[in-house]
Parts: sequence; C-alpha cells; structure tokens
Amino acid sequence: MSFDLENHRIIVTGAARGIGLTIARRFTALGAQVSGWDLDCAPIVADPAFAHCTSVDVTNETSVEQAFNESLKALGSVTVMVANAGINGPTKAAWDYTLAEWNQVLAVDLTGVFLSTRAAVGHMRERDYGRLVIVASVAGKEGNPSACAYGAAKAGVIGYAKGLARELQPSNVTVNCVAPAITETDLFQEMDEAYIADKKSRIPMGRFCSQEEIADMVAWAASPRCSFTTGQVFDVTGGRATY
Ligand SMILES: NC(=O)c1ccc[n+]([C@@H]2O[C@H](COP(=O)([O-])OP(=O)(O)OC[C@H]3O[C@@H](n4cnc5c(N)ncnc54)[C@H](O)[C@@H]3O)[C@@H](O)[C@H]2O)c1
Repeated sequence: MSFDLENHRIIVTGAARGIGLTIARRFTALGAQVSGWDLDCAPIVADPAFAHCTSVDVTNETSVEQAFNESLKALGSVTVMVANAGINGPTKAAWDYTLAEWNQVLAVDLTGVFLSTRAAVGHMRERDYGRLVIVASVAGKEGNPSACAYGAAKAGVIGYAKGLARELQPSNVTVNCVAPAITETDLFQEMDEAYIADKKSRIPMGRFCSQEEIADMVAWAASPRCSFTTGQVFDVTGGRATY
C-alpha cells in the first residue's frame, strides 16, 4: 500500500518505539519528513526515520506547546499530526484502580491527545490543510475487561475526534481515528498473560495485528487521498469489531 507523502511534514507522538516508530518509518519511506515526540527521544536521535525529534510529556501543556514550536521550526510547516503516545495502565478490575492510576491513563491517552492535536490545529486551520490521526483502540469501541480506564480514554478520543471533525468544517483539515486490536509491542509489559490471551482469542483472524498493518491504515488516513472522510474510525482488528 503506498500513498504520496512527498514533502509532507509530520509529527508522530510516542515515536521512540512500537507502533509510533513503525508509523514514522513508513512516513519516511513515503517521502515525508518526520518529527518524533517521546518522553525521552534519545533512542531515536540518530534514527534515519527522523528529520527531528524532541523529548516531550504529552500530558503537560507547556511541554507540548514547546515541542510543537520546535517541530515547526525544524520542519517549516506541519501537514500531519499523529497522536499515538499511549499507555495501557494496570490490568485489573475497575474497582481495584486507585484514582491516581485512573487519572494517569486518562492524562496520557485522552488529555495527551487533546493537547497534541490542539497544538497543531491552529497552524493547520491557517493553511486550510491538515490531517489529524489519532491512534485509538478497539477497546474504545467494545471495552476491554481489566482495562476500563484505557477503554474509557480510547472511547473518549473517538468522541473527541467526531466533535472536532465537525468543528473544523468546512475546511481541508480532517480528523480520523485508527482502532487496532492487540499488537505485540512493549505495551505488553503492562499486561498479564491471561489478559493478552483473552484479547487474542477475541480476534476472528486468530492472530495479533502487526505494526505494519496499523502503519498502512495510518498512512492512508494521513494522506491527501483521504480527502472526503473525517470524524471516522478506521478498524484494524482482524474482524473483531462489528461496527
Ligand atoms: N499494542 C497494542 O496492543 C495496541 C492496540 C491498540 C492500540 N494501541 C495504541 O497504540 C499506541 C502505541 O502503543 P504501543 O503498543 O506502540 O506502545 P509502546 O509502549 O510500545 O509505545 C508507546 C510510546 O508512547 C510513549 N509515551 C508514553 N507516555 C508518554 C507521554 N506522557 N508523553 C510522550 N510519550 C509518551 C512511550 O515512551 C512509548 O515510546 C497507544 O496509543 C496504544 O494505546 C496499542
């Protein structure tokens, strides 16, 4: 699958590893210049996938604003923002969650998406062009037992994207989500074996989603060709989600 992203200037959050790193590599292969954001960007400073990278905490308003200004200076403009940074949180029943654990998941997975996309949207509106792509999860559509905070945050970003998409119209700035099923990344370290086995068993195709399959869908949603679709959720679940 290939889309022309030649000369596009793209920010990917949570880019130091996992799905974010795979997305960044795909964009670079398609001719884009990528600025990678992560809590600690040291692991990607020398990675050829990145034209620029910066350390940022997406839960912190000042940190996000500074990072956006740095990326803009380095890239010259920003045509695409992929809000991918996320955490799973502890895998346990909702009633065993402390308020601090709940707040942390919502801070990264919901507020982090709000702050990251908000930083880019003014610039995109001025230029009347932009693609905001949010990495949500099937958990936001169906809920995942033992990850209620995660499901709540991911459902939250889907609702956020649908509202923002309409606020932005009429314009050429679109907002879409990609909702993958379980994928082998370092996020597995936040999950126990029973949780991982249960999530895999729910996928009719009987296997984990690959990071490349997610990057394909993100590349489409980030491309100029995705021009008449906004406020939608692209499914990457091997048939798990039925809507
Ligand atoms: N792995 C899966 O099964 C799966 C399934 C569906 C959706 N997702 C979503 O995909 C996205 C990427 O997940 P992944 O599996 O690659 O996880 P990962 O843990 O491998 O990578 C997440 C990245 O986000 C960064 N990050 C975390 N908190 C941050 C913060 N406050 N500020 C900046 N960066 C921060 C981490 O440092 C890390 O580099 C997440 O939004 C996740 O919810 C993952």
